[in-house]
Amino acid sequence: MAKRLLIIGAAGHAHAVLALLRRRGDYQVAGLIDDTRPSGGLVFGLPVLGGLADVPQLCEAYELDQVVVAIGDNGRRQLVAETLRRRVPNLHWPVLIDPTAVVAEPARLGEGTVILALAHVGPGSRLGPGCLLNTRSSLDHDGQMDDFASLAPGVHCGGQVTIGQRAAVGLGACLVHQVSIGADTVVGAGAVVLRSLPPGVLAHGTPARVVRTRQPLEPYL
Ligand SMILES: CC(C)(COP(=O)(O)OP(=O)(O)OC[C@H]1O[C@@H](n2cnc3c(N)ncnc32)[C@H](O)[C@@H]1OP(=O)(O)O)[C@@H](O)C(=O)NCCC(=O)NCCS
Repeated sequence: MAKRLLIIGAAGHAHAVLALLRRRGDYQVAGLIDDTRPSGGLVFGLPVLGGLADVPQLCEAYELDQVVVAIGDNGRRQLVAETLRRRVPNLHWPVLIDPTAVVAEPARLGEGTVILALAHVGPGSRLGPGCLLNTRSSLDHDGQMDDFASLAPGVHCGGQVTIGQRAAVGLGACLVHQVSIGADTVVGAGAVVLRSLPPGVLAHGTPARVVRTRQPLEPYL
């Protein structure tokens, strides 16, 4: 029987996660949760059931205990996940892997991590909770991604790369082997990262250079 689940978020990334769930076919999505939209409407053909505060009673009403936080921005995804974890401690956070993605063995994936279509995780990799590998992104062998870090579509990482907490690697960027990206750093689209980057900066270009500092919750999408 399909497991029932709520999607937290109702914007573009939620659409991508919904496509993953439809391809898998083993989850039945009860609806979407979004504080910024009126409940009762339809988004992507699914009902918006309410906001975060409604999750406890919705879990009871729909007899479910599984959620995915489908928010693309790393800082916001973590904030929402932590808020929900406090309010509804018995929730489950499945790891969701698109059937077209490849995850080599051995790999360790933290709860709530999402791996979208055609993405690749190399052997020996370790991903914390709430990570996101977007479409066709690749973390090669022995890579590490800390909590709520993300790779945008088409990112290529060489082997033994480390991505810090909430760090976001932008569309199509390339990271050579063994570099590390500090926590809360954003790598701009198309960058080629040849040297490690410190925490809390924005860097872009070829080769990637630090252009400024950034605050942990500063939007970047
Ligand atoms: C880097 C980024 C976060 C923007 O940072 P920002 O500080 O707000 O930058 P701005 O847009 O104000 O641009 C400032 C300057 O940097 C340049 N710039 C911005 N992003 C750049 C990039 N990725 N590569 C090279 N130059 C870039 C701009 O052209 C601008 O140059 P100018 O001053 O000569 O006109 C954004 O451009 C980016 O790359 N985001 C990633 C998006 C992504 O991956 N989306 C996929 C989500 S699934």
